[in-house]
Amino acid sequence: MPEFQTSPGMRDILPPESARWRRFVDVFAQTVESAGYGQVMSPLLEDLGVFQRIGDATDVVSKEMYDFVDKGGRHIALRPELTASICRAFVQHRPLAPWKIWYSGSMFRYEKPQRGRYRQFDQVGIEVLGADDPNLDVEVIALGWEFYRALGLQQVKLVLNSLGEPDDRARYVQALQTYFEANLDALSAESRVTLQKNPLRVLDSKREQDAALVAGAPRIAQFYSEKAASHFEAVQAGLTTLGIPFTVEPKLVRGLDYYRHTTFEYQGGTLDSAQNALGGGGRYDGLVESLGGPATAGVGFAMGLDRTLLACDDEGVFPAPSAAVDVFVVDTTGGAEALRITAELRAAGLRADRAYENRSMKSQMKAADRSGAVFAVIVGSNELEAGSVVVRPLRAEPAGPDTASGQVAVPRTDLTSHLTKAMS
Ligand code: HAM
Repeated sequence: MPEFQTSPGMRDILPPESARWRRFVDVFAQTVESAGYGQVMSPLLEDLGVFQRIGDATDVVSKEMYDFVDKGGRHIALRPELTASICRAFVQHRPLAPWKIWYSGSMFRYEKPQRGRYRQFDQVGIEVLGADDPNLDVEVIALGWEFYRALGLQQVKLVLNSLGEPDDRARYVQALQTYFEANLDALSAESRVTLQKNPLRVLDSKREQDAALVAGAPRIAQFYSEKAASHFEAVQAGLTTLGIPFTVEPKLVRGLDYYRHTTFEYQGGTLDSAQNALGGGGRYDGLVESLGGPATAGVGFAMGLDRTLLACDDEGVFPAPSAAVDVFVVDTTGGAEALRITAELRAAGLRADRAYENRSMKSQMKAADRSGAVFAVIVGSNELEAGSVVVRPLRAEPAGPDTASGQVAVPRTDLTSHLTKAMS
């Protein structure tokens, strides 16, 4: 075992998986940029206070933060999510509203690592600041849905809820507290602790012992103000207009505390229930204000890249893009010719690799095969003298009549145009 390895919950993403990650972000960017979202790149580190505004009652803030005091005595933290950072950026830069932005990058949460749950994980997401139109909730939810379709995922389910306005929510939390306290004996020990900190989160309990009690708990819908009810209806109507199927789940409270009105989750069909949230989001109309900005509406979502790719594996979609090169140069004359040829081919836009260390023909041909290249270009001393090279198809249909293997001798000066044509 090597002396140093990645820390628990942190991973090296190696090729070809890394290319898949990059493509994931590319597809996401295409999807959301087509709707007018621009990318924000913000720091990995923020003042701890930025994240404390997410809500002290959440595990993300109270238990899972990677925080430390830097050399200047500032208490800072590695970001556990990006919504708070984006709101901080909005307050700092005052862009025109509505501000439609997207992001991607690594987040850090000190969680118990398991399949689909890591301490460093990646998210892609969008946020819209400065408009409380329910049509924006619909647009945001629909873009996430479209993205899953673009990946090829078929089994994702959209689950929707509304937490109402802050007053509705407060009255609901009070009612939940009263209800659970009246049934304290039936509640699991863990949920009793949760109840003290955040009664809403008791609804999230997956423990058998709590199931009946949670099922009988008061429902948020009973507490909606007229405005909350009509906002939620408009969101549902919009999703129906777009033909996006959803289920209303009154128990959906989500792990972060800043939500009001719409909340939603995209749940995968193939992962364990504890890790089946591929993405989620909602409205957080008070967050900018709590970070020192003007009253500003906000809505958005974030998706876990790691988890979504696990769902892709399970559904057999969105494979890693091919890492194969187009051409592999085999040079048994010392390597100088391979140096020139690969440079020429790469300059012409072809993907070209070669063997090194002047290995034997046999070993170079093996490397050519492993590279996945479509053609091998072979340079021996005879060819070098004659000013030609041999092009041998490794995978393509035989391109010429010369030999059974389809290989052809090509004048050295014609090589780049010959291969460019063959590859197109
Ligand atoms: P979240 O539900 O905490 O929301 O995280 C969003 C997604 O990130 C989850 O659905 C999951 O796929 C992924 N995720 C979270 N924790 C982990 C982990 N430890 N390992 C792997 N994946 C993980 C937010 O972060 C909000 N900022 C979303 C949002 C944006 N709400 C409004 N705007």
